[in-house]
Amino acid sequence: MCGIVGYIGDGNAYNVLVGGLHRLEYRGYDSAGIALVDNTGKLNIYKTKGKVNSLEAFCKDKNTESKIGIAHTRWATHGEPSDYNAHPHFSEDGNLALVHNGTIENYKVLKEALIEHGCHFHSETDTEVLVQLIEYIRVHNDCSMLEAVREALKQVVGAYAIAVIEKGDPDCIVAARKSSPLVVGVGDNEFFLASDASPFVEFTDNVVYLKDEEIVLIRRGEPLKLYSLDNKENEIDVRKLEMSISQLEKGGYPHFMLKEIFEQPSTLHDCIRGRVVNDGKYITLNGVNDNKETFMSARRIIFVACGTSWHSALIGKYLIQDMCRIPVEVEYASEFRYSHPVLTPHDIVIAISQSGETADTLAAIKIARGMGAFVYGISNVVGSSIPRETHSGTYIHVGPEIGVASTKAFTGQVMVLTMLALTIAELKNTMPKEDIERIAQWTLRMPELVEKVLGLAPDIERLSLIYTYARNFLYLGRGYSYPVALEGALKLKEISYIHAEGYPAAEMKHGPIALIDAEMPSVIIAPKDHLYEKIVSNVQQVKARGGNIIAIVTEGDDEIRKIADHVLEVPEVPECLTPIITSVPLQLLSYYIAINKGKDVDMPRNLAKSVTVE
Ligand code: G6P
Repeated sequence: MCGIVGYIGDGNAYNVLVGGLHRLEYRGYDSAGIALVDNTGKLNIYKTKGKVNSLEAFCKDKNTESKIGIAHTRWATHGEPSDYNAHPHFSEDGNLALVHNGTIENYKVLKEALIEHGCHFHSETDTEVLVQLIEYIRVHNDCSMLEAVREALKQVVGAYAIAVIEKGDPDCIVAARKSSPLVVGVGDNEFFLASDASPFVEFTDNVVYLKDEEIVLIRRGEPLKLYSLDNKENEIDVRKLEMSISQLEKGGYPHFMLKEIFEQPSTLHDCIRGRVVNDGKYITLNGVNDNKETFMSARRIIFVACGTSWHSALIGKYLIQDMCRIPVEVEYASEFRYSHPVLTPHDIVIAISQSGETADTLAAIKIARGMGAFVYGISNVVGSSIPRETHSGTYIHVGPEIGVASTKAFTGQVMVLTMLALTIAELKNTMPKEDIERIAQWTLRMPELVEKVLGLAPDIERLSLIYTYARNFLYLGRGYSYPVALEGALKLKEISYIHAEGYPAAEMKHGPIALIDAEMPSVIIAPKDHLYEKIVSNVQQVKARGGNIIAIVTEGDDEIRKIADHVLEVPEVPECLTPIITSVPLQLLSYYIAINKGKDVDMPRNLAKSVTVE
């Protein structure tokens, strides 16, 4: 949430920073801004409400000459989206400019103290308090900006990734992080700084991931210097970036979301590669076989996650209970952290997060570790915080997901969870070897089968036209298809702003059935599984109340075809793999409906890709 970019080098800082902001726009897009020091030593700050395009338009006739700068794209937490609440914020004397991602929880106390000392504020943000505090310390202690940043951060409670520049020192950026991500790109005579590496992937593949409570001093022409908050110098660990520029472009698709939906055959392939081997005879997943005893003796598994990742977790529950016979609980990370959880060292907590940065999930991990549970992480972004905070874990390897509505990460997570369940089942001997092998072989076919499902796109596009102006939708499913119903409804809500509710199909008769009429379509996920006959009667119940039905069914299903208004046929797969197959048509349906409504599917209002605040 909120994207930060910084640059020092011989290139045009404005171009690098604005290009970087476009890449980070998925993190927030209600306002944007940039601070540059020109060659006369003047600090120019330009900021506007709206997307990065508005900032570019605003800067057209401005002086953007500079070889150093910082920039920001915002997702508002404190203070409405507006020009004056946009970052960068600056100290009252105009000496410092600062960008910030995170939340300063004690900002009110700090602000009051600064006001007493004569400071005046121009915005409602917590960030302005931080920049004023740094400058106050710098002036009053007569110290360097680095020292002032360190002293200020010691007084701060909350989460931050910050970058600061000083008018009088156009060769230096000081940056720091705690609970919000920050990565430095090391180029030839130039440095980049960003919330993730996407802004500078075409310039360098040498990166340094900052750790919590680390401060970096980036000085032109000198090696990087890393310090802890208590002023110890830390070692620099330069890593190679695993990201390519083509992954960050739309590749001919009108939107990232559509590109990511269509990428799923290849992302699923990448996700399985090297893990299901020897034609399904052997499955290996990072962090499981090297913690055999822990997984074999686990008395309980608790998933913690948010949003779409929570829906994957729910599928994980069905998979692990079915295959491994371990009791599973699924918790919203935000609720878990404040629920006085009862954990023991015999519990495994599995955190799922595409970004690896979600604040609530990170907090849940810390609590679980503190209570002695073993914590396993499933993330997508290499080098993010969650893999660092967990005892062990694995990546889904689906490449950068830019569209705010998660698609390929969802199917990647479900695939990893399937492999995880199969691995544990094998260790615990809770499933016949031939069944494990049979499902493992089916996982290898999933890329090809998802490709087939994508062939439904033209039909779904036509179907979407009929329902574009529906005001409410109901999504129903049972068993493995219940989390799919939740995820289908979430996809529609997120990008088309149509109210949609996902419900366990059998629960419908305890309330939602009262809503059904010709105005409210129901999307029923009804593949041939052990609950098929049950869901057929749910389909009939909806029809009997005059509801319109879009059913996702298994190829050759004639029974539901006779009742439903529209059917979308998907290939037959083992029950545990149906979510990967049935979720794809729902992704397409929500995409086309949002497009018909003229919505910005990649940047839906009020949302952000990664939520690094509570
Ligand atoms: C935000 C995103 C969702 C995502 C959720 C959890 O709300 O818009 O797409 O599912 O955060 O994010 P995570 O990165 O932890 O999976």
